[in-house]
Amino acid sequence: MSKRIGIIVGSLRENSFNQMIANTIPELLDSAQYELISIANLPLYNADLDLGDGPDTVKHYREAIQKTDGILIISPEYNSGIPGVLKNALDWASTPTKTAVLIHKPAGVIGATPGAKGTILSQQQIRQTLDATQSYVMPAQKLYISQITDKIDLTTQKLTDATTRKYVQRYVQTFLQWIDQVNLLKE
Ligand SMILES: Cc1cc2nc3c(=O)[nH]c(=O)nc-3n(C[C@H](O)[C@H](O)[C@H](O)COP(=O)(O)O)c2cc1C
Repeated sequence: MSKRIGIIVGSLRENSFNQMIANTIPELLDSAQYELISIANLPLYNADLDLGDGPDTVKHYREAIQKTDGILIISPEYNSGIPGVLKNALDWASTPTKTAVLIHKPAGVIGATPGAKGTILSQQQIRQTLDATQSYVMPAQKLYISQITDKIDLTTQKLTDATTRKYVQRYVQTFLQWIDQVNLLKE
């Protein structure tokens, strides 16, 4: 059976470039199933709300992650770090401490920016957060996409640059293999 990949985009912006990368992935590699997991309606993390299953949006969000074989995070960088909306979403997926959906979940990280440095600092913080949640973050490949405005088509909302499409395809291919490796570890 094909693997189920959850995609979390760390930007809520309507014309998000990172969302455009997410939009393109299914056509680059059709051997997996992809599901966009929205973080737009999650409340700000508050332990007072984090009782039982928590608010409905949180419950559905956690269930969506639970059902996946792995999650791909595609995110911009804000002020040299992780966007607040993404940190909030990862915090909600990190509780309850012993049964959180991110525990032992394979995870990959991709990021794009109009700038020159490809979201290096943001990705460092995302990896640090994922480590804390006991996710299995793919260590071997990193994918930093710079000058993204030259590499997308605003009309189709897709990634068009041939080289970058190849990099993304290769990253997702390796991520599918990473899921197999993690599953062997779990046995
Ligand atoms: C508050 C804020 C801080 C930003 N800080 C950075 C940064 O540190 N590094 C960077 O490469 N781009 C930074 N940017 C520019 C973003 O990369 C750019 O807005 C990008 O398009 C956001 O991703 P999106 O298109 O997926 O929404 C920042 C943008 C905002 C709004």
